[in-house]
Amino acid sequence: MTQAFIITKEHRRFTEFANAVRAEQTIGICHGDAGVGKTNSARRYANWDALEPYLDTWGPRSDDDAKHYALANRARTVFYTPEVLPRHRELVRDIDHWVSRLGVCIEEHQRAIGKVTGTHVGDATRWVELLIVDEAERLTPTALEMLRDRYDRTQLAIILIGMPGIDQRFRHYPQLYSRLGFSHRYRALGRDELLFVLDRHWKHLGRTLNPDDFTDAQAVAAIERITRGNFRLLERLFPQINRVLNWRPSPTTSSKQPPARSSSAPKPAIEGSQYAATDR
Ligand SMILES: Nc1ncnc2c1ncn2[C@@H]1O[C@H](COP(=O)(O)OP(=O)(O)OP(=O)(O)O)[C@@H](O)[C@H]1O
Ligand SMILES: [Mg+2]
Repeated sequence: MTQAFIITKEHRRFTEFANAVRAEQTIGICHGDAGVGKTNSARRYANWDALEPYLDTWGPRSDDDAKHYALANRARTVFYTPEVLPRHRELVRDIDHWVSRLGVCIEEHQRAIGKVTGTHVGDATRWVELLIVDEAERLTPTALEMLRDRYDRTQLAIILIGMPGIDQRFRHYPQLYSRLGFSHRYRALGRDELLFVLDRHWKHLGRTLNPDDFTDAQAVAAIERITRGNFRLLERLFPQINRVLNWRPSPTTSSKQPPARSSSAPKPAIEGSQYAATDR
């Protein structure tokens, strides 16, 4: 289940961190456990869900252009995920491609608001202020060196996103490490926010969650224990909750247990009454 983006405290912290890296024109690292929401926050910061398909299509002009130009201008950020085993030339070419297309959009916005006039077309890439590289573990030492070189030449701020320990890995590259300005740990949801997310889901199902009710409180405590505030584990739990809530014993079934999942269904985080927290 993919739910609408929720502006969590961690997302706000990520936004502050990204703004600081951008303002200082430095390199930052963001690390956190699998499934806590790093990618979602970064894409949201860059308005990438809207901009990526637009920049990728690069089709004929349309009425939507101005909206996308304004989005590009607001974020001034390229979000990039390298392939597994990235080829170095392609990595540089891909990043240049996104930076130049985003730069053109920002320049168009600047023209529309009158900040750029005349027919002279300058280097549009100067408008792009931040490059976010997700799954940064995939970067080889050569790729990291290429990014460092790019940073030195253009002063384009960079955020590298990865799993815990990525900051330790970068210690082995003193030239990159000495340029790091900020390290940011992306944490799981706190209790209040977990309650908020659960409450939203409950409402979605037409029910209300009452933490003062003993049974509800027990359920919340169990969910908190299983998911540890991890968004992905929480998402994997919701279909199971739906399944149990929708289960009605048929007149022909004597069993008091919900039916077994079909073998094609994805493996849940919870099986029957045996809770099993599963992480990547
Ligand atoms: N703010 C949010 N609002 C709603 N759903 C979210 C939010 N953040 C994350 N999610 C959900 O949680 C899941 C995991 O998020 P995401 O992929 O961003 O985690 P991640 O930290 O990048 O994980 P990984 O380290 O495995 O790449 C996503 O499927 C997403 O739908
Ligand atoms: Mg991710």
